[in-house]
Amino acid sequence: MISLQSLTILSTSCIVLSGLSLLLGWYFIRGKQIDRHKAAMLTASSFAALFLVFYVTRWSIYGSKAFPGAGGWKTFYLINLVPHIIFAMILAPLVLRLLHLALRKRDYVAHRNLARYVLPMWLYVSASGWLIYYLLYVKTYG
Ligand code: HEM
Repeated sequence: MISLQSLTILSTSCIVLSGLSLLLGWYFIRGKQIDRHKAAMLTASSFAALFLVFYVTRWSIYGSKAFPGAGGWKTFYLINLVPHIIFAMILAPLVLRLLHLALRKRDYVAHRNLARYVLPMWLYVSASGWLIYYLLYVKTYG
């Protein structure tokens, strides 16, 4: 069976790659490079979907890991974790809506208006996901 460590590394890499593709996609649209924007955003969405697959697999096999620290570190961890989970849940339908507006409806004005809220939310989920991984699996608490 696939190990807990492999699943954790795979899912966290997907968050990081999704965030990097997102930044690239944003850079491209700022330069009006629509085809590259489309490719980068579809890549970001695919990595996000892949993350979900690895995350759910890991959770269903191994459950969730209790935070190993205490005191101030635990508070800091929870302050990041709670909005991370809330935004991540809101993000999924919003990303599907963004893709629908751009690819099916070709309503780029509505797409842009919604995207201006979704992009910072997605970047936060991506960056905080990396931070949560670091606090939970890498950092040691003496
Ligand atoms: C879920 C993935 C996507 C995200 C997060 C996203 C994000 C964004 C953002 C933030 C903008 C506004 C940039 C700005 O003016 O500051 C934008 C504009 C745009 N996006 Fe996307 N995008 C995504 C997918 C796509 C796809 C698949 C297409 C397909 C062609 C597309 C086409 C466009 C176009 C044409 C604009 C320019 C709209 C305008 O200024 O009139 N986007 N997008």
